[in-house]
Amino acid sequence: MVKKNVCVFISGKGSNFKNLIKRSRDYNFPIKIKLVVCNNKYAVGLNFAKINSIPYLVIDTNKRNFENLILLNLKKHKINLICLAGYMKILSNKFLNSFKKKVINIHPSLLPKFKGLNTFKKVLEYNEKKTGCTVHFVNKKLDSGKIIVKREFFLNNNETEKTLRIKTQKLEYLAYPEAIISIFKYC
Ligand code: GRF
Repeated sequence: MVKKNVCVFISGKGSNFKNLIKRSRDYNFPIKIKLVVCNNKYAVGLNFAKINSIPYLVIDTNKRNFENLILLNLKKHKINLICLAGYMKILSNKFLNSFKKKVINIHPSLLPKFKGLNTFKKVLEYNEKKTGCTVHFVNKKLDSGKIIVKREFFLNNNETEKTLRIKTQKLEYLAYPEAIISIFKYC
């Protein structure tokens, strides 16, 4: 199998990134992670890049040309797909138009419900019966691109933001690899 080159964008913990590294070791999993982009030099997730000898780029989003620097590196590593995994910065329209390949994201709610931040808080406030995660293509509107995979669970009576986060992330580790497989199924 010829694996596709992927760049993962992170900002923090990087547990989805860690999970994708693990999955990409499978012979049959369609990607290899060639690059990591991170906008936070203190991100714990960067350690997974270091431990696994994956090239990483720490960017300063206050600098004017930071997206050009990313684009240059994506080209250098022949990246076919960007996976956003807890990347807390919105990509500009100019960036999305320039990259031209696919960009996907994982979001901790059942989209189109609860776009943006504070999803677990909103799930509790709205007394939702179920919640979960969604992997979707990234377009110019926040958390609004075509949905690839959703995974869900039913809430108990005593859920907190913490329990919802733990349960949702468990599902994320299944949903993200599943979405990647489905994208490259016929390639
Ligand atoms: C995930 O819950 C994801 O849904 C959201 O950010 C979180 C990142 O977690 N977009 P991690 O850094 O992968 O642990």
